[in-house]
Amino acid sequence: MSTTQTPSAFTLGDRAVQRLGYGAMQLAGPGVFGPPKDREAALAVLREAVASGVDHIDTSDFYGPHITNQIIREALAPYAKDLVIVTKIGARRSDTGGWLPAFSPEELAQAVHDNLRNLGLDVLDVVNLRIMFDVHGPVEGSIEAPLAALAELQRQGLVRHIGLSNVTPAQVAEGRRICRIACVQNQYNLVHRNDDALIDDLARDGIPYVPFFPLGGFTPLQSSGLSDVAQRLGATPMQVALAWLLRRSPNILLIPGTSSVGHLRENLAAGKLALPADAVEALDRVAAPVAE
Ligand SMILES: NC(=O)c1ccc[n+]([C@@H]2O[C@H](COP(=O)([O-])OP(=O)(O)OC[C@H]3O[C@@H](n4cnc5c(N)ncnc54)[C@H](OP(=O)(O)O)[C@@H]3O)[C@@H](O)[C@H]2O)c1
Repeated sequence: MSTTQTPSAFTLGDRAVQRLGYGAMQLAGPGVFGPPKDREAALAVLREAVASGVDHIDTSDFYGPHITNQIIREALAPYAKDLVIVTKIGARRSDTGGWLPAFSPEELAQAVHDNLRNLGLDVLDVVNLRIMFDVHGPVEGSIEAPLAALAELQRQGLVRHIGLSNVTPAQVAEGRRICRIACVQNQYNLVHRNDDALIDDLARDGIPYVPFFPLGGFTPLQSSGLSDVAQRLGATPMQVALAWLLRRSPNILLIPGTSSVGHLRENLAAGKLALPADAVEALDRVAAPVAE
């Protein structure tokens, strides 16, 4: 059986991290709003992640809002030296949980300070500027003004590395003319592959690409092609979806989200799942056609 091994680490900012990390968004209440129904369970997921070798956690102060970061701090502070916490700014929540843009220099500075306070940090490792021209996906438009404001916060020593989220390739190029971009975080998974070319471009330049919704997001992926491959390999569909991403490109760093220790363990075990060439071919056929 022919298999392909995938590298287990990649450099994010100035540190090598395991390619299988953890996304903390699922730890807040329903709709990523308010407290979780079981706070102890949320603390347990984070502690299990780090105990299992996860050294890259993705979060935002607008998850909850504030609550997810406070849970991370309670579970994990003082933080292990090798833990990289990546957060994102550029949005805020309405009173009813809606997602609103928050792009002015004042709002961005406030967001950085909220993250620092709620995570209990003096400096944020990586801050992604989450572009909100459309909350649901990337839309063209200059990102110069908010990115320059974030770069100023970096100059003040509050932020080590800057990333971009929900961006087009043109916005990534614009961003790279303004400051060093440490990572790009966009929606991408087995059936949502609009960023194929961008991933390859970033890989050539050693820049990590961090897919959000790697398992399909709020409605996890369902596909008979995926289930067939999983059954053949004695794995779960979610493990196969993650293994496919790990194999897709060495610069892909994964942050699957879960509120369950069982799912966390299942997801982390995907790092050991080698996909035979015929499984990769079958999975490549699962992709939805890219919109014209
Ligand atoms: N930059 C952005 O705009 C943006 C947007 C969205 C998310 N993110 C980041 O990306 C991370 C990942 O995205 P996500 O959490 O929304 O979506 P995801 O990782 O694609 O999927 C999470 C969903 O899959 C379920 N799940 C997880 N593991 C499973 C397993 N082994 N078997 C069955 N179901 C499983 C989770 O439910 P359970 O809780 O029941 O396991 C949850 O419903 C987030 O945590 C967040 O940090 C960023």
